[in-house]
Amino acid sequence: MKVAIIGGGPAGLYAAILLKKQRPQAEITVHERNRADDTFGFGVVFSDATLDNFEKYDPPSYRRITQEFAYWDDIAVHFRGTVHRVGGNGFCGCSRRTLLLILQERARELGVTLAFETDVDDEARFADADLIVIADGINSRFRDRHIDHFQPQVDLRSNKFAWMGSTKPLDAFTFIFQETEWGPFIAHAYQYEAGRSTWIFETDADTFQRAGLEGLSEQQSADRMAGIFGWFLDGHPLLINRSMWRNFPMIRSQRWVKDNMVLLGDAKATAHFSIGSGTKLAMEDAIALADAMAQAPTVDAALQTYEHGRREEVEKTQHAADVSLVWFEHVDRFWDFDPVQFAFGVMTRAKAITYDNLTLRAPEFVREVDVAFAKQVRGKGFDVDIDKPVAPMFQPLRLREMQVANRAVVSPMCMYSAKEGVPGNFHLVHYGSRAIGGAGLIFTEMTCIGRDARITPGCTGLWNDEQQAAWTRIVDFVHANSAARICLQLGHAGRKGATKLMWEGMDRPLEQGGWDTISASPLPYFPDSQMPREMDRAAMDRVKQEFVIATLRGEACGFDMLELHCAHGYLLASFISPLTNQRSDEYGGSLENRLRYPLEVFEAMRAAWPAHKPMSVRISATDWAAGGITGDDAVAVARAFGEAGVDLVDVSTGQTVRDAQPIYGRMFQTPFSDQVRNEARVATMCVGNITTADQVNTILAAGRADLVALGRPHLVDPSFTIRAAAWYGADIACPPQYLPGKEQIFRNSVRDRQDFEDLKIKGKPKTRAELKAEATKPLAAE
Ligand SMILES: Cc1cc2nc3c(=O)[nH]c(=O)nc-3n(C[C@H](O)[C@H](O)[C@H](O)COP(=O)(O)OP(=O)(O)OC[C@H]3O[C@@H](n4cnc5c(N)ncnc54)[C@H](O)[C@@H]3O)c2cc1C
Ligand SMILES: Cc1cc2nc3c(=O)[nH]c(=O)nc-3n(C[C@H](O)[C@H](O)[C@H](O)COP(=O)(O)O)c2cc1C
Repeated sequence: MKVAIIGGGPAGLYAAILLKKQRPQAEITVHERNRADDTFGFGVVFSDATLDNFEKYDPPSYRRITQEFAYWDDIAVHFRGTVHRVGGNGFCGCSRRTLLLILQERARELGVTLAFETDVDDEARFADADLIVIADGINSRFRDRHIDHFQPQVDLRSNKFAWMGSTKPLDAFTFIFQETEWGPFIAHAYQYEAGRSTWIFETDADTFQRAGLEGLSEQQSADRMAGIFGWFLDGHPLLINRSMWRNFPMIRSQRWVKDNMVLLGDAKATAHFSIGSGTKLAMEDAIALADAMAQAPTVDAALQTYEHGRREEVEKTQHAADVSLVWFEHVDRFWDFDPVQFAFGVMTRAKAITYDNLTLRAPEFVREVDVAFAKQVRGKGFDVDIDKPVAPMFQPLRLREMQVANRAVVSPMCMYSAKEGVPGNFHLVHYGSRAIGGAGLIFTEMTCIGRDARITPGCTGLWNDEQQAAWTRIVDFVHANSAARICLQLGHAGRKGATKLMWEGMDRPLEQGGWDTISASPLPYFPDSQMPREMDRAAMDRVKQEFVIATLRGEACGFDMLELHCAHGYLLASFISPLTNQRSDEYGGSLENRLRYPLEVFEAMRAAWPAHKPMSVRISATDWAAGGITGDDAVAVARAFGEAGVDLVDVSTGQTVRDAQPIYGRMFQTPFSDQVRNEARVATMCVGNITTADQVNTILAAGRADLVALGRPHLVDPSFTIRAAAWYGADIACPPQYLPGKEQIFRNSVRDRQDFEDLKIKGKPKTRAELKAEATKPLAAE
């Protein structure tokens, strides 16, 4: 077999090593345009998990790499004169040059041919190769030559960054967030060998301009950075080596394989440097390719296996990198945060690290986070304990005069079980048991303002006395038997009305017994859905009046709070999204116009709703569809409702158009809540695939939301909040009938938690930094 590899970076060299080990007879050549020791960059980082992988696949290179490594466990966050350190991270750094020399030496040893100073410009010269590996890096000539086939998407990010080095020793992965007269600068720095550290500087485009960095030489910009970070560098110089300022290109390729050619490493996909995964991805691509070649019967089949088997892992890493880079791009959102909350946000930005996880590794840090959170709550007039604060989830919140005892919320969820809009026994048990289960706030399902406003024949309503009496019974039960507050969600289905019950066909039109639908514009949801009538002014007035009447009925029922549903493609949402609003009057066109009617309705309701009771609005913060609402629009929408007197924005997403492409994942909508809360400066509630109390605490402690709603988890576990309270040892209201159960779970949780933590700590392998520290510990210290 003949293998041609274009590019002698980590991807190309490691692929050569693994393939040659597998097929000693194969003729493998790496073609590299540079000289052997002619390399850019300073250090590279690997996690312990990545090193475990290297150990498994090629022990000799692993041993040489790890001999050269600098190890560290801590991450240090410097911000506004404070430094917060968190241990247990298990990372290693090594010089990129050394890494490449080790890989070159190992490749040679195995019999790989290394052709340096060979700039390949045409793959035709490899016509006799069975396999051509394209590992020519971020600006891949060969990916771009076949651009129509590989279809790379390049998302050039807005921040500017430059790689530099220094002689400054560092004992932690160090983030420095530095205020300057021009704006914020960030340094990401880590040591990679004795007396050498990598420094990546990052700033936003405006600050870059203001700081006059445009057009400076590498040395001049290094001098400028040394001026900014000199207080930390202690006289150590900044070193340059192709240290130009650039914009990071986030690259994703639609295809990775063409005939017998395969893309590896940065050529195929990139991951932002803030999660330190570029070199890791490159080398793990080589592992995946070698695995596929070992298992599949032909090169063709192996390349298919590589592409299909590897894609999910790469996309997961890219997603984490995306979330992380967005955090750094918007660091100004958090600039006025308490430093410990800021540091918590840095640590938890990419979802892998959470509140519980940090509690195990850095309990003192989490205690500080809890104290800072409790102090903020105390600042709002609550007499909470700040010496031994409870976890953020169990801190109270006030909206106008309504107080909620904790931050866990039952999200609004249609039960599709009402008869002519009247909630029945099912609803009483459903809402009642979730209130008893400890959630601070319970939302009703979307309750419709008129018969024709319903989504399905099973939806609840509040347009007549019978419905009002039924809701009063539920509200009274909640108030009499729990500490929960209950919020009425009012809505109109718009073009998604007259559809089937969820379990008979979500959003599908009713075959019989339907009713006429209305919307901002005459656009059916599915091609075969009913055509809605475009609302005229008379219809707008009628619907607005129905919202006001339902509001008054809601007050008569005794609800504590009111939410206006402006999300998920229903009537008011259909005005806000440009995908569903094609009007040419003053209610269509600009966002300001599209918001006009929803705001009119909100203001009319606000005027009818008692001034001491809060109101929220649910929005879809993105349509997940081209040309639709984006996060930036959501900020503008939230500001407009904020000015109209909204107390909380309930940040959901999507469900506007049927061909939307949401990116699901844990807590997938939380970044939108973060953006709305910290840009529009309104209180928010987040929701969406949040399943654990740990996630609830992580979101709250990082300042990404003020309340956290859980939908589906509450369907199967009404006592989610009591259970979590027991776990975190936070007292919680419980009806007297259930006290023995509460006492038992609180008692057992202390032991269960201790067992769990012991197991986690015992089960966790020592990091390489810990092992190294133990190995070098002087005997006398034993
Ligand atoms: C300026 C810069 C500095 C960086 N510094 C660091 C750092 O300090 N730490 C870190 O972890 N990551 C760093 N990175 C990112 C990291 O280098 C990559 O994520 C990783 O190296 C990807 O490995 P790769 O093998 O896919 O590509 P690369 O390492 O880019 O290797 C591609 C190789 O292909 C060669 N090549 C390209 N075209 C041809 C051709 N036509 N013919 C022959 N050879 C060709 C190139 O010379 C290069 O050696 C840096 C990136 C850049 C752009
Ligand atoms: C069965 C069901 C019914 C729902 N009904 C409503 C509703 O009436 N009003 C609303 O705003 N959202 C509704 N939603 C959306 C939820 O409130 C929530 O935003 C969504 O389920 C995501 O949260 P989760 O991942 O915690 O379930 C419903 C969700 C489910 C699963």
